[in-house]
Amino acid sequence: MPEIQFYTGENIPLELHKVRIVQKLDLVPVERRAEAIAEAGNNTFLLKNKDIYLDMLTDSGVNAMSDRQLAAMMVADDSYAGSATFTRLTDKLKEIFDTDYFLPAHQGRAAENILAMTFVQKGSIIPMNYHFTTTKAHITRLGGYVEELVIDEGIKIESDHPFKGNFDLERLEDLFKEKGDRIPFVRIEAGTNLIGGQPLSLENIEAVADIVHRYGKLVVMDASLLQDNLYFIKTREEKAKDLSIREITRRISDKMDIIYFSARKLGFARGGGIAIHDKELYLRMRELVPMFEGFLTYGGMSVREMEAMAVGLEETMDFDVISQGPLFIKYMTDELVRLGVPVVTPAGGLGCHLDATRFIPQVRQEEYPAGALAAAVYIAGGIRGMERGTISEQREEDGSEHLASVELLRLALPRRVFTLSQVKYAIDRIKWLYDHRDLIGGLRFVEEPSSLRFFFGRLDPVSDWQDRLVRAFRKDFGESL
Ligand code: F0G
Repeated sequence: MPEIQFYTGENIPLELHKVRIVQKLDLVPVERRAEAIAEAGNNTFLLKNKDIYLDMLTDSGVNAMSDRQLAAMMVADDSYAGSATFTRLTDKLKEIFDTDYFLPAHQGRAAENILAMTFVQKGSIIPMNYHFTTTKAHITRLGGYVEELVIDEGIKIESDHPFKGNFDLERLEDLFKEKGDRIPFVRIEAGTNLIGGQPLSLENIEAVADIVHRYGKLVVMDASLLQDNLYFIKTREEKAKDLSIREITRRISDKMDIIYFSARKLGFARGGGIAIHDKELYLRMRELVPMFEGFLTYGGMSVREMEAMAVGLEETMDFDVISQGPLFIKYMTDELVRLGVPVVTPAGGLGCHLDATRFIPQVRQEEYPAGALAAAVYIAGGIRGMERGTISEQREEDGSEHLASVELLRLALPRRVFTLSQVKYAIDRIKWLYDHRDLIGGLRFVEEPSSLRFFFGRLDPVSDWQDRLVRAFRKDFGESL
């Protein structure tokens, strides 16, 4: 998807694909939206699809698939053992990453479970640029600790740093000097999910790997969001601008010991797995696959998804294909900036991220601004986003609240799913909400599970602010949905 110039000077990302299968959507009235979010305990994970117009919850497992992927699904080989589909997928991974071994898993977090069970013990420290929810849960469950080493710029909401997901190399080196014996591996998340889909540079990835290898430890890449990161390396990094996507990928994978991924993101399908260079490492993890996932040649995945994944991975090497997401996200982010709405800059991958801290400064962190904003955006437009703030954190061992370093509402743009008019609608409703931000109040838990509370927790508004928001909407929009 090259940036094609418009004669009128407008700056619009132009799709290099056409839509051939569609899903009907409904937009329910604002009164129903207020009711629906109350029924869902103000948790957007608990909304029902019939009440949602734009589902921007996630880019996980909901990306548009290509005609070639659908065709490949028809020739999947569902042999329990020795499936030809598995061979095709392993060969594709070998071609792209040059990895000889692949352990299939039903999705990314299952791969994290296998890695954690193999390498994490009580007291282990796992350094990473930034944590992801499921990653951290697997490590802490086994008594390990996560050490976040992202550069300071990484958690600055507004920035022009092109690689906010970079590691602070000095802190990494210091940590190895002080506590290196407790570190089994370093995890590189490329790009970072919870701080706004921000990428790392090729230079930083290579430097991290060199440090870790100097101390004789393993480098593990979480490549779930690699496709966006590849786009940013190609377009933002001087030393990579003449490399193809395939060459950049190979430069990265040559430095990794292990690459795991959620294929719900990477590869436009559903599943996951672990690609490994070294036989000994492969053997250390292998027995966990049949025990927890399924036999070694499917690992809990549907073989149809595996066929689609092999094709999707190939398509990920195509710059036109992988630029659609970042260009749409940039369009949405730049428009919101122009309208004065606080968002994470520069635009990253995965989605557009609203900064709840500045959007609704009147809501204290203990009353979950990112969660409140998620409820408000849903009421304003039938748009489902995902809280990425304090609700997504785990409480401390003593039960106290762990306040997140950033309070974001993520509006994911699943790849090739939404049209530009839908993105424009989202921008319009968010701008309306921003102009009525004084109406928004906080939330409080009424049901709080002890782990991964953001999935199932239920909250109430602290006042009648949602009713007031509905009344303001009706006043401004009349009969309109
Ligand atoms: N790592 C990263 C960076 C992720 O973004 C995710 C999932 C996982 C691991 C876990 O993979 O879902 O296949 O088990 N992220 C999804 C999201 C859930 O909505 O951001 P999974």
